[in-house]
Amino acid sequence: MITTNPFSILAETVPPILMQWFVIIMAMLVIVGTLVDIIHKKNVKYFFENAKKAKLSAIKTLSTSEKISVVSKTIISDIATTSELGAGQRRAAHLLGMYGTILFWIASIILIFCYVNPSSNTPSIWPIMWHVGAIMTVLGGSWFWFFLRVDVYSEAQPWYRIIKADLFVLALIASSLFGLIWSFLQSLNLNDRWDDKVFLAFYVVSNLVLFGGVYWSKFAHMFYKPGAAIQKNLAEADGSRDNLPPPADAPEQFGPGIKREEPKHY
Ligand code: HEM
Repeated sequence: MITTNPFSILAETVPPILMQWFVIIMAMLVIVGTLVDIIHKKNVKYFFENAKKAKLSAIKTLSTSEKISVVSKTIISDIATTSELGAGQRRAAHLLGMYGTILFWIASIILIFCYVNPSSNTPSIWPIMWHVGAIMTVLGGSWFWFFLRVDVYSEAQPWYRIIKADLFVLALIASSLFGLIWSFLQSLNLNDRWDDKVFLAFYVVSNLVLFGGVYWSKFAHMFYKPGAAIQKNLAEADGSRDNLPPPADAPEQFGPGIKREEPKHY
């Protein structure tokens, strides 16, 4: 199963062009959802106005090489390793899910656009990437959703309570999980049985929810977060600090209470 391209088997019954159009429509849904989100929240307008305002209080003009250095460090640390999440389970779960999703999506595009015909000879690396990416996404997403969500981890809500904020993570887990189950059932060669078709339908619907729900979900954070991290680090380097005061020049004395329990109340 893990070395088989599930889309080239599907192409025996579904025209490849239909699968390719499905991917293109999903990409368009992401663009439209993000743009509507930007217009509705006015977050990008605020972001640029704030950056312009902060620039006025800069105490240093950064040279191009200094800017390149800040941006490169941000890409390597804040973005590629999501350092904002600190060192712990939250960051490990996010990295597992994030890189799993990246592998899963890249492999899906390659499998569907380059090796989709039933006669195609797919190099094993792409189906392996697709299956491993899906497994990583399910593991990372479930780790986060079952154990690390703030409302469960810090607010003692039961793990089965579902709210609108869970749309992104649940649709992400569902699309990878249903994709895996569909690929497995299809590889069993059940011929006229219904099982793989049902899971193919679940896989399609969960993708429609994931990519069609960008406006209502946290999907767009993967575009906003990198921009915000670059701006924050540039503001620190030029001294404007987003108009925030510098850290106090005093010893860090928080009293004995700080040691009583791990900080986990948000
Ligand atoms: C393919 C790219 C990415 C995927 C699939 C992804 C996935 C996720 C998921 C599933 C969540 C949990 C959402 C929830 O609160 O329900 C999340 C939260 C988060 N993500 Fe991402 N993410 C991606 C990129 C990024 C990037 C590039 C950054 C930072 C630069 C980032 C920073 C965060 C932060 C700070 C949270 C909040 C975590 C928490 O509440 O503990 N993500 N991400």
